[in-house]
Amino acid sequence: MPRSWNLRWRFTKPRPIARGLGLACVLAITGAALTAPVNAESPTGSTPLRRIAFGSCIRQDHPAPILETVRQSDPDLVIFLGDNIYADTTDMQVMRAKYDRLAAIPEFARLRREKPILATWDDHDFGVNDGGADYPQREGSRENFLRFWGFAEDSPVWQHEGIYDAHVFGPEGQRVQIILLDTRYNRSPLKQGERRLGGPHVPDADPSKTMLGEAQWAWLKEQLLKPAEVRILATSIQLLASDAGQETWANLPLERQRLIRLIRETKASGVIAISGDRHWAELSIDNESLDYPLLDLTSSSFNQLHERGTPTDNRARAEPTTYHRENFGQIEIDWQEADPSIRLSIHDMEGQVRLEKRLRLSDLRANVGSD
Ligand SMILES: [Fe+2]
Repeated sequence: MPRSWNLRWRFTKPRPIARGLGLACVLAITGAALTAPVNAESPTGSTPLRRIAFGSCIRQDHPAPILETVRQSDPDLVIFLGDNIYADTTDMQVMRAKYDRLAAIPEFARLRREKPILATWDDHDFGVNDGGADYPQREGSRENFLRFWGFAEDSPVWQHEGIYDAHVFGPEGQRVQIILLDTRYNRSPLKQGERRLGGPHVPDADPSKTMLGEAQWAWLKEQLLKPAEVRILATSIQLLASDAGQETWANLPLERQRLIRLIRETKASGVIAISGDRHWAELSIDNESLDYPLLDLTSSSFNQLHERGTPTDNRARAEPTTYHRENFGQIEIDWQEADPSIRLSIHDMEGQVRLEKRLRLSDLRANVGSD
């Protein structure tokens, strides 16, 4: 059973590890010499991550001024959670042209120059709305993604069946692991039912269906067994949201159970999920499945307003607040405290806090003594 959990809430209003992430990241994050490409497996250094920004969903043809707000928040690392362009094509030249449009957005270009960035993809930058393994250009799209986000030629990600990636930053006792899942390249077709608010998908407990594919599952287990104090699990689609009309892990409930069971069985402490995709921000919580509360902070979108303004049902929503205008998420860790404080927050265009939750590192500890 989960340990008792005191939530401290306050609601107010408030820089890929890729080539762009390359040298700048090594310098800014690890303080290491300019030797290893930042995409190298698990670069570590003496400087811990203190502030991580993240978000999702950018129309490459629209302005994205919130990326300047992100830059001014002075993050040590920025994570792009997918739908980073709306490619929606099987023409790889068209896709590259859309990446060029993203690169030309001045606020994106400056952020990329100045801050280390890590990225995963969602359906639209993968290539097709709600797409999965049956998208015919998944390999061409994968190459576009890896090249755009500047993955070094010797990055192990080039060998993956997808674009999943992981890194550990910081010295022992202050390590932050970033795990970037690929929820697209291997994903089985989703079951469709009657269209309703949010979309046409219905939960499918077919055990033959997969979200990640076996190679990624095996890789993920290896990652969760690596030592780290905080683990940020980046998944393009929401992990904990209950409604399955749109795309979430609720579409494939057995796969969601498998992920949570893997976290439990590896006794991985410090896991915090982050997600995007929905065009609104919210916080979801699972108080039951681990030794500690599992949180999923959704930030969406960078420049895509949610026209309907009404979020779909979510029984895992940690409290009623959702935010529907441009936003980004932030995780701040104060390593100076004996029991480091962790602050999760959602920020608006002006950088003001729209949703906030504070916790301690000890709140996220797996009971390693039990089975
Ligand atoms: Fe999406």
